[in-house]
Amino acid sequence: MILELSTWQDIEAWLERSSTILIPIGSMEQHGPNGFIGTDAICPSVIAREAESSSSESMLVGPTFSVGCAQHHLGFPGTITLRPSTMIAAMVDWTESLVRHGFRRFYWFNGHGGNIATIDAAFSEIHAKRSFRSDGDKLPGLELKLVNWWDLPKVAGLCTQLYPVGHGSHATASEVSVTYAAYPDYRKTDVAMSPKVAPSGDFGDAWQYRERFADGRIGSDPSLSNAEDGRQLIELAAAQLRSDLAKFAG
Ligand code: NI
Repeated sequence: MILELSTWQDIEAWLERSSTILIPIGSMEQHGPNGFIGTDAICPSVIAREAESSSSESMLVGPTFSVGCAQHHLGFPGTITLRPSTMIAAMVDWTESLVRHGFRRFYWFNGHGGNIATIDAAFSEIHAKRSFRSDGDKLPGLELKLVNWWDLPKVAGLCTQLYPVGHGSHATASEVSVTYAAYPDYRKTDVAMSPKVAPSGDFGDAWQYRERFADGRIGSDPSLSNAEDGRQLIELAAAQLRSDLAKFAG
């Protein structure tokens, strides 16, 4: 089931048999010369939709939380960021809205490494707010889980097999492939990468990022990306997601 495409009665019926929801969470940030700005939101959404399409009775996919923490990409036009405190506040409100209806188990399915620290902080905030209430002891416990799509079993192995050189760590060949499989009409073909494999290294603020990684990539050669690889990655990740979510839902 997909929350946006459900009626309130559908959700009421879902809650009679499950208290679990999956929420894709991503970012809106530059992804190099041939990657979409929405890449980190698109990847977890597309994988979740693929998993849902073959097990619609056993999973509920919420709306994608599509803008995250991307301050370090603000040197590139189009990037939108939340400050960490805003993102935490928004995640608390999304969660508490759903708790009010009866949801208790939240599987946040993430597409952006830069979100991880803030998602963990949001989980702590959610738990703390509930504990500090005078009736905190009587509130139902919540299970909050964070899973990055690239950490699902076997996914990293397939990335290494497809891209032994030039997979990289930002604007990776694999994530761009996933978006090309999802939106083939929007592919950017024949974009020259210079250098072919982008430099690797650290960064702090947005100006440093732009200075060190001129076209936005880190360590990657996304000219290797293609829709066929993306389809393989989506199918593998969706299968792993189905089984991991089933274990979480209990
Ligand atoms: Ni990304």
